[in-house]
Amino acid sequence: MSAPKEDDGLPEVSESPLIIDVDFVEEINDNPTGPLDFADEISVARPRSPMELPDSLPTPEGRARVITVTNQKGGVGKTTTVINIASQLALRGHRVLVVDSDSQGNCATGLGVDKSKVRYTTRDLILSPETAIGSRHATAVDNLHIIVGDRTLIGLEQEMMRQLGRERRMKEALEPLLSHYDIVLIDTPPSLGLVTINALVASDALLIPVQTEYFALEGLALLAGTIREVRSLLNDRLGVDGVLLTMHSQTLLNQQVAGELLESFPDLIVKPAIRRNVRLAEAPSHGVPIHLHDPSSRGGKDYQGVATVLERRWGLA
Ligand SMILES: Nc1ncnc2c1ncn2[C@@H]1O[C@H](COP(=O)(O)OP(=O)(O)OP(=O)(O)O)[C@@H](O)[C@H]1O
Ligand SMILES: [Mg+2]
Repeated sequence: MSAPKEDDGLPEVSESPLIIDVDFVEEINDNPTGPLDFADEISVARPRSPMELPDSLPTPEGRARVITVTNQKGGVGKTTTVINIASQLALRGHRVLVVDSDSQGNCATGLGVDKSKVRYTTRDLILSPETAIGSRHATAVDNLHIIVGDRTLIGLEQEMMRQLGRERRMKEALEPLLSHYDIVLIDTPPSLGLVTINALVASDALLIPVQTEYFALEGLALLAGTIREVRSLLNDRLGVDGVLLTMHSQTLLNQQVAGELLESFPDLIVKPAIRRNVRLAEAPSHGVPIHLHDPSSRGGKDYQGVATVLERRWGLA
């Protein structure tokens, strides 16, 4: 018989609302019903206390809506989402600006822009706001411009520490550009540094890509805490425009996590879920978005569907 548990003074953690109660079974669902349809077993998941993600406000008249695509978790499809939503909207005639605030600089590659030929980057935008107009570049897609992120963003945070108003630099720099666009999409690195904070302060709302894997809700809880802090200290307008399910497939685990998310954020989940599709991973190596690489692929169709929903949600349709 085991001895009774001593009171060690540590808080009880077994009731954590963030623990997803699923078995790790990599079974393929025999009866797939498509990305819009989350399997039935999902709907019987235990109810849990909702994690609060605040609503966003309408865009002020006459200027672009500024959306940051973010999740502190790495490799969840942030950049792929920025590239493909931006180009889908541009293809429909909307004026779109992508701002890449990640030193990996993958937005430029994925949109066919040669980083070595770019004079002003996101680093210049933040440090010298007067370069904003000249820091925009054309891309492989009409109506779609980009301010390029690159390696020079590494070390920027240290330099910014000495500056006054350091959290608002990007917001101020983007201000003169906003009347020229319908949508500004900001890509962020997988970390919560000063550059990501600048993006959150500059934004009306967030679009949050979430991979339908086990740690999804924990990542969202982290982000919800960040949003709360930014709202109370720096940008009380900041809300959430959507949670996008990415790299989704028909495994039981993916389906169950999708169901948990759908249950927690019924109004925020943007459908369809983006299915795992190798065409999406290939497209950047050709320097084009999915609609130029293979529009009829599953990835192409899913991003097209999501763009239609967001176009309506953002008042562009
Ligand atoms: N739906 C998908 N199906 C298959 N591969 C995908 C899909 N979405 C993205 N990928 C691939 O997964 C990898 C990570 O995607 P991506 O770079 O968009 O994520 P990220 O969140 O921007 O990563 P990071 O946090 O490093 O910035 C890339 O190689 C990308 O091509
Ligand atoms: Mg990225």
